[in-house]
Amino acid sequence: MPKRAHLIAGMLGPLCIATFFLSTIVVELFGSHAAVAQLKSLIVTPGLWILIPTLAAAGGSGMFLARSRRGRLVDAKKKRMPFIAANGLVVLVPCAIFLDHWASAGTFDTTFYIVQALELVAGATNLTLMGMNLRDGLRLTGRLRVTPPAARAS
Ligand code: HEM
Repeated sequence: MPKRAHLIAGMLGPLCIATFFLSTIVVELFGSHAAVAQLKSLIVTPGLWILIPTLAAAGGSGMFLARSRRGRLVDAKKKRMPFIAANGLVVLVPCAIFLDHWASAGTFDTTFYIVQALELVAGATNLTLMGMNLRDGLRLTGRLRVTPPAARAS
């Protein structure tokens, strides 16, 4: 059960962040202010209500699974998790809430775009860290094979 929960949370977490990230870029570049406001609202509800429990589930089930596993890949995943959680809770969640608040009030000023840029940088950072955890997880379970450097060169 923890294995299945971890697989689902481990796939859903990066998918959520990637969806928020790409939809934000598309709507900011091509959408109206109304579309931006609609997206900012969707990122908070239901977005954050899916992302936060998913992150907690990935971290919790991962720590549980790590009790019976040792090694470099497990250690690397364990080290990344506090950064993923802190970045999510301290940067992404407040950014999403402020942006939603300002966009729904029609306030698209310099502060809005600075916070939007900060959210995109934090989102890209978390996407990278979560992607690395996903890759190392799939390596741990043998679903992703590591190609030896010699084989890659030939
Ligand atoms: C957002 C963070 C994380 C993501 C995206 C993630 C993703 C994944 C994925 C996709 C798998 C493969 C599951 C499968 O093939 O069935 C996996 C396996 C694993 N993960 Fe994570 N993981 C995360 C956090 C953690 C943390 C914090 C730990 C603790 C060290 C951890 C420990 C493990 C272990 C031990 C396995 C192998 C499980 C087994 O032996 O079946 N993960 N992870």
